[in-house]
Amino acid sequence: MIKFTVNGEAHSVEGDGTLPLLWYLRDIAGMTGTKYGCGAGLCGACTVHLDGEAVRSCVTSVAAAEGKAVTTIEGLAENADHPVQQAWAKHQVPQCGYCQPGQIMQAAALLAKTPSPDTDAIDGAMAGNLCRCGTYPRIKAAILDLAE
Ligand code: FES
Repeated sequence: MIKFTVNGEAHSVEGDGTLPLLWYLRDIAGMTGTKYGCGAGLCGACTVHLDGEAVRSCVTSVAAAEGKAVTTIEGLAENADHPVQQAWAKHQVPQCGYCQPGQIMQAAALLAKTPSPDTDAIDGAMAGNLCRCGTYPRIKAAILDLAE
């Protein structure tokens, strides 16, 4: 039995530890805020936090989450009012919106570690999160707005 928490609640998986965390979250736990993009660790749509670190849940097994705390977009803030989410709304970042849960989780992990990222640090942290709509300038503006 593999045990971990998701947004502070206890979860467990019987059997196959190679099950991708993304599959568990979406198909078993019914938490569809985390998105499936490429399924190969290349786009960032599935980004969640594992003990505070941004990880790609499509290439993270449930076994790798054993004993750890998973945070998804649903659990980032109680009323979806995390500072990053507020900045996203202020700067009207999303277009189609599909990649944005992953973008927000990646940005939240960056700001938790580096409260005052410069543009190079933002580019470095966010480069792996792809957006087909090209919302990159607004993502950067929202993060810079939050930089202390
Ligand atoms: Fe996981 Fe693209 S769906 S990185």
